[in-house]
Amino acid sequence: MTDKLILRALQGQTLKTPPVWMMRQAGRYLPEYRLVREKAGSFLDLCYNPELAAEVTLQPIRRYGFDAAIIFADILLIPHALGAELKFTSGDGPQLSTVTDPTGLANLRPIDAIHETLAPVYEAIRIAKAGLPRETTLIGFAGAPWTVATYMIAGHGTADQAPARNLMYRDPATFFTLLDLIADATAEYLIAQVDAGAEVIKLFDSWAGTVPGLDFSGCCIEPVQRILARFREVHPTVPVIGFPRGSGGNYVAYSNDTHVQGLALDTAVSGAWARTALPISLCLQGNLDPLLLEFGGAPLRSAAQRIVAGFSGRPHIFNLGHGVTPRTDPTHIDQMLKAIRG
Ligand code: CP3
Repeated sequence: MTDKLILRALQGQTLKTPPVWMMRQAGRYLPEYRLVREKAGSFLDLCYNPELAAEVTLQPIRRYGFDAAIIFADILLIPHALGAELKFTSGDGPQLSTVTDPTGLANLRPIDAIHETLAPVYEAIRIAKAGLPRETTLIGFAGAPWTVATYMIAGHGTADQAPARNLMYRDPATFFTLLDLIADATAEYLIAQVDAGAEVIKLFDSWAGTVPGLDFSGCCIEPVQRILARFREVHPTVPVIGFPRGSGGNYVAYSNDTHVQGLALDTAVSGAWARTALPISLCLQGNLDPLLLEFGGAPLRSAAQRIVAGFSGRPHIFNLGHGVTPRTDPTHIDQMLKAIRG
């Protein structure tokens, strides 16, 4: 039996104390991250520098002893590898060239070409894996096609993903061809991440919550099924965590229809809801409000303990409902860990 607690939870074991990691655990709230980030140059330079990307992947493990590391990269590397222009300017978030018609689709690179751009990520995985304690699990990841497409269609982050929803109504052929293309590229990317040493993969569908209910299956379930059908041909036993953030009642269909081993929950749902809505054998991950980590103290401790109690009696990985914020005081994370682990 593996001594990696994250893998045991994802195999369906109920553990006395849940293993812990945090979304965006390598990031700007850590002074040691800010130092490396400055040394690297731009954010993309950091993503494509294997030594430095591995270093920031390991920083939160050294400081906190989390049960999992997540490889440092970004969901927008897939559009970049497919030939979209991409830059991150501080304060503005990501800026991309757009795909909104058949010509835009035709201008993308073939899927086989992605590994040329993404090779540094695979190398970072090899380096990070070699530097991890033996009980720590290495997670690889990608964005889910809907969320990645929202950036490729709009060219930047949007509050309501209206440009992507408009394209789905105006030109469904272009929209769904784009989702398929992202799905196929993502499957190859994830296979290569596991080949390099990733032990679990996570699919971030951060904007699942704005997909109309009528379209949820076509936008958020079928593309994930397409990725996993291919991924599981090559890596049938590697656990997958799905994160259709904000999808509410659709979490049920998502987990039933994609057969993910782990379901990451946003802040909106509770252990009590999960108990009645989701199979007891499904590993749930979540779901502390990241703002409580900014706040710290008694409200943080109490919420962390209520989450542990609420998800007791089933496989559970403690995590946040979304990423840790740059404003978080790193000592508050010690408070959280003490509340979980005693
Ligand atoms: O520690 C980890 O979780 C691993 C690394 C990771 C990053 N981005 C690093 C990052 C992961 C898993 C992501 C996923 C990601 N990227 C998502 C999905 C998860 C989510 O948070 O909803 C999305 C939507 C993106 C796209 C993205 N990347 C945006 C919108 C931004 C700008 C906003 C911001 O926070 O600045 C990024 C930049 C980014 N990705 C940073 C980090 C640490 C900050 C950039 C910096 O250091 O200057």
